[in-house]
Amino acid sequence: MNTSLRRIGVVGGGRMGAGIAEVCARAGLDTVVCEADATAAHAARDRVTASLARAVEKGRLDRASAEDALDRLAFTGSLDELADRHLVIEAVVENPEVKTEVFAALDKIVEDPGAILATNTSSIPVMRLGMATRRADRVVGLHFFNPVPVLPLVEVVASLHTAPQTVTAVEDFAAALGKSVVRSKDRAGFVVNALLVPYLLSAVRMAESGFATAADVDAAMELGCAHPTGPLKLADLIGLDTVASIAESLYEEFKEPLYAPPPLLQRMVQAGLLGRKTGRGFHVYDRG
Ligand code: NAI
Repeated sequence: MNTSLRRIGVVGGGRMGAGIAEVCARAGLDTVVCEADATAAHAARDRVTASLARAVEKGRLDRASAEDALDRLAFTGSLDELADRHLVIEAVVENPEVKTEVFAALDKIVEDPGAILATNTSSIPVMRLGMATRRADRVVGLHFFNPVPVLPLVEVVASLHTAPQTVTAVEDFAAALGKSVVRSKDRAGFVVNALLVPYLLSAVRMAESGFATAADVDAAMELGCAHPTGPLKLADLIGLDTVASIAESLYEEFKEPLYAPPPLLQRMVQAGLLGRKTGRGFHVYDRG
């Protein structure tokens, strides 16, 4: 394997952190997941175990490889357990204060001065997290996509302080996970969300203005452009709260009207109509 980063830490074992830990372990890397406390660490283990079982069930992974992956994983409630890591990937909640605290703490705990600290943030400037450490040259964005074991892309985000060697090292690491990399500047939305979110917002505006129904907007893009999922179904899948919060970050950064969350989106979020996860968004879902 062509990566020098062999001992991996993942902070936060939620939807993304569990997925990142799973792909690291499946790639043969020794991986420690740190959650907020022991109970949350247990829940993170259950999440990874269930995901590996699903991969076996669907024939994407054999049982022995799933067991080997689990053997390479450890779960803890203490950041101190990450002291000997070569690379730590932070995937805690999207809250700048919480993330800044995690980076400041990791900077003190992770012993190897050459170790790299990465963030899976979708919208917080990598620079801001780098500045919470004394190693901003070794702080970088590694933005995975949900579900991590399935989607092959990673966006690598260098801040103004990130060293070129750090970028090369995490690109080799991403390749070792079997992922493809695109590089992005440290700007809200990076490449994917900066392109995708204005498109989703345009679809919301179409439905909002009565230009076309939600069903027709989706059918138009699925049947007319061969998109696998129409934009309003996709917004429901991502979660309308998540779409709105990414739009707000983009709007705050660029002040372009195309990024402003439309009133209908905001009202739906206020109403708790968040898409698939609540059973109703632009479409209605069977939650059973
Ligand atoms: P999540 O809410 O599923 O998981 C966050 C986890 O962080 C929780 O399990 C929580 O217990 C843990 N946590 C909170 N504070 C902690 C601390 N101080 N130490 C250790 N663990 C702590 O959130 P999700 O969806 O996994 O998102 C995580 C990050 O990934 C966010 O920055 C998000 O923007 C980013 N992201 C999310 C994507 C998505 O589709 N959900 C896609 C790409 C990036």
